[in-house]
Amino acid sequence: ILSAGCTTNNSVKVGIESNFRPFTYTEAGEGKGFEVELWQAIAEKANLKYELIPMEYRELNEAVKSGKVDLAIAGMTINNARKEKFAFSDPYFQTGLVILTASDNEMIKTEDDLAGKVVATRLGSTAYTYTGDIKGIKEIRGFPSITEAYDQLKDKKVDAVVFDERNAHDFIQKSGDGKVKIVGEMLNKESYGVVSKKRNQYIGRVNLGIEAVVKDGTYAALYKKWFGS
Ligand code: ARG
Repeated sequence: ILSAGCTTNNSVKVGIESNFRPFTYTEAGEGKGFEVELWQAIAEKANLKYELIPMEYRELNEAVKSGKVDLAIAGMTINNARKEKFAFSDPYFQTGLVILTASDNEMIKTEDDLAGKVVATRLGSTAYTYTGDIKGIKEIRGFPSITEAYDQLKDKKVDAVVFDERNAHDFIQKSGDGKVKIVGEMLNKESYGVVSKKRNQYIGRVNLGIEAVVKDGTYAALYKKWFGS
């Protein structure tokens, strides 16, 4: 008899997000992105067989909690609130939040300039929590998908978006149509980690895998491929 948590086929189920470029996304049903390739390298080092399960961001937490997936790699910021509910690997990516505005907006340059403004972001994200703490914002519009927030900004229905820097950059390049820009410096520092249930049998091995891909240069090569030098 297998005890709870054991699987018969030894394949680790790994949740990814289908819309978080350039980290994890799906194209023609296939998982792509920096994190997908990083995970492949980590799994090889950690000797883990796996299967990728793409889903919406809002489904990921529940999928990890319920055991539908054993792990998730999807630009999940490590923070104390989340550490109460989940186990995280060592950080594998340093980043932060940025402000996006319309290209012709000359009023908003820093987070203080968001006072009296309408800001869009994604529900449940660290950006949503962060903007909630900025004094004087007129309204925060949280969307289930960040694409909706970006579209609102393109259409000038909101004054700004706050979200993860690399994703924002990717959006501007691929779908911004010259209408949107990033202003100022990163607002904070965040690190992404692989996430699992608190009681799990994987995070230790994942950490060894992360260490190994950093050591042998695989991490640097993937970073260069996806983000430039
Ligand atoms: N890093 C932010 C957070 O943890 C955004 C997450 C983005 N990840 C994603 N798969 N869409 O809330």
